[in-house]
Amino acid sequence: MTTHADAGRLIREANFIDGAWVPGRGQRRFAVIDPATGRRIADVPDSGPDDARAAADAAAAALPGWRARLPRERAELLRRWHALILDNQDALATLISTEQGKPLAEARGEVAYGASYVAWFADEATRIYGDIIPDQQRGKRMTAIKEPIGVVAAITPWNFPLAMIARKIAPALAAGCTVVGKPAEDTPLTALALAQLGQEAGFPPGVLNLLTASRERASETVGAWLEDTRVRKITFTGSTPVGKHLARESAATLKKLSLELGGNAPFIVFEDADLKAAVAGVMAAKFRNGGQTCVCPNRVYVHSAVYDRYAEMLCEQVAALRVGPATDAASQIGPMINARAVDKIARHVDDARERGARVLTGGKRLTELGPNYYAPTVLGEADASMVLCGEETFGPVVPLFRFDDEAQAVAAANDTPFGLASYFYTQDLRRIERVSRALESGIVGINEGALASEAAPFGGVKESGYGREGSKYGLDDYLSIKYLCQGGLA
Ligand code: SIN
Repeated sequence: MTTHADAGRLIREANFIDGAWVPGRGQRRFAVIDPATGRRIADVPDSGPDDARAAADAAAAALPGWRARLPRERAELLRRWHALILDNQDALATLISTEQGKPLAEARGEVAYGASYVAWFADEATRIYGDIIPDQQRGKRMTAIKEPIGVVAAITPWNFPLAMIARKIAPALAAGCTVVGKPAEDTPLTALALAQLGQEAGFPPGVLNLLTASRERASETVGAWLEDTRVRKITFTGSTPVGKHLARESAATLKKLSLELGGNAPFIVFEDADLKAAVAGVMAAKFRNGGQTCVCPNRVYVHSAVYDRYAEMLCEQVAALRVGPATDAASQIGPMINARAVDKIARHVDDARERGARVLTGGKRLTELGPNYYAPTVLGEADASMVLCGEETFGPVVPLFRFDDEAQAVAAANDTPFGLASYFYTQDLRRIERVSRALESGIVGINEGALASEAAPFGGVKESGYGREGSKYGLDDYLSIKYLCQGGLA
């Protein structure tokens, strides 16, 4: 074990099924690696379809009892879980930093962020209202009630090992669903720690079940849930190709899906923008988690009239970012998640350079720090021919594109199959109205780079997926509407 002692208490190297910690049935295991050093942190089960079926059995058996509980009883358990998450904030943050590479201060923020969804949905559990439909015929009453959809399978990414799974488990449990889940191969320990805290909070056996699986086995393991008719919903955050695969494969059993998929966020700086604020916006949105978020600006469009000044102001701040191990309190940017991620970043920057982009700062691997570091980078004179314009870089790279008028900027911003987040900076109120409606994305930041909130609906359009997480809308994905028609009342 190479992690901090406090985090050690929360480390579990087993699956959590039916309220018990169990090894994988096939006894295969895989290593969890610290991306800062390449060292092994722990070993977890490389689960297969039998483990997935056992988890679904437990979730299905627990469902009748869980959905029959009063909403305020479910809320009470979620509140206890919330309190335990916050009581363990430092230990969880250490775990996140160690397995994911996010700097400690950000990891503490992620714990609070993830916990905020638990508190939010504990409250929402008691507000699942239906409707009495106005009378259409004498002697007949029509009502619509909302019911839990059933067993939910949650499949989560590595970039927010705590927040992404918390914001799926919390609404599912609040709605009265039970859960089977699989965290990402790179970051399973934080999710298992959350399950342990759920156990301490008093979750009944089978209500929450988590298993771990390697990238190689994930498809066959999750496949058992896709074909299982008892699993009624899949909630997934991750890449668009995997989201499409899940949609195709779950079609045979017609599951409800929520898919939070890839993005390619544009960030537009108009000529009348407050440039200082627009620099702060990119710093907040782009460099969060080292550029490894689905809502990170991937393409920054800057009006020609302010381009040079903006580039200079931005470079000054980017060059000053401190890169280092996530567990070092001074670090602002940690390692990338793994070698594949760094290779992709390097490929994007090299391709852009070959096609005429200028490296204004950064533009290189930082091998002296460890295997997975890349320097915060700003590229000037980016254009649409470059790979980084069409693909999400998922790293600390800001490409600056020039534009000359609003219509051109909006058309370029929308010229992507993705539509998760977009951002723009302007001081013109009419333009705010026009551009916020014209941008094709589920989330729009207007003179603001920090969008995350448990009270807001998070999700995309186009190939960024469907469904919303957080907010009053976030429960809908875990509920189905039942229409009751009662006659003979006259
Ligand atoms: C993500 O990158 O998928 C999530 C980001 C957020 O919750 O703000």
